[in-house]
Amino acid sequence: MRIDILTIFPEIFDGPFSQSMLKRAQEKKIVELHIHNIRDYSTDKQKSVDDYAFGGGAGMVMMIQPIEDLILKLKSERSYDEILYMTPDAKVWNQQSANHLSMSDNLIILCGHYKGVDQRIRDHYITREISIGDYVLTGGELAAAVIVDSVVRLIPGVLSDETSALTDSHQDGLLSPPVYTRPANHNGWTVPEILLSGNTRKVEEWREEKALERTQKIRPDLLEK
Ligand code: ADE
Repeated sequence: MRIDILTIFPEIFDGPFSQSMLKRAQEKKIVELHIHNIRDYSTDKQKSVDDYAFGGGAGMVMMIQPIEDLILKLKSERSYDEILYMTPDAKVWNQQSANHLSMSDNLIILCGHYKGVDQRIRDHYITREISIGDYVLTGGELAAAVIVDSVVRLIPGVLSDETSALTDSHQDGLLSPPVYTRPANHNGWTVPEILLSGNTRKVEEWREEKALERTQKIRPDLLEK
């Protein structure tokens, strides 16, 4: 999979993309991450990327020209499954969306800033708008890093134990059951007996029961869906 990220703050990605799973996925050539600085494509003398909003009001709007030039350049080099735009005024991201996007070959992610991008970019180039939650971040970069992480870990070969993504919270619409490791007794805090029994069928039943219990208690909305 190839992911092209369009941003005015490319350095934000240095941290998340150079550690752990995303680092390994790139080393193993399972994913290629390309960060593009939108400002490099501005034809303006001052290299501007934003301008005042028509109709007035506080806040700048990201202008069409550099974003369009960059998108057209990328699209002339390969075809893209989706062009995503990170914005709080969109449908909220979930595990099902991550499963779906993990089957893509090429993705573009546009990170918004200020008051957002000129609506005409959204109307004519963006194929999917994504919010990571009902709160407002300073820009789309951290949200884009969340999308990339949640998608890339689902690509076969990225996680060392491939079955572990299947038992994640949300993968079956439920929260995960509690987990324990050694010691079995820490100052009197014991592990549920069933987990030490070696009876795989009973352990599985216990986990399903606890997952359901936890979901009912913390996220009953998931059960209503
Ligand atoms: N940009 C600012 N806030 C955001 C959010 N909640 N999701 C995605 N992009 C954003």
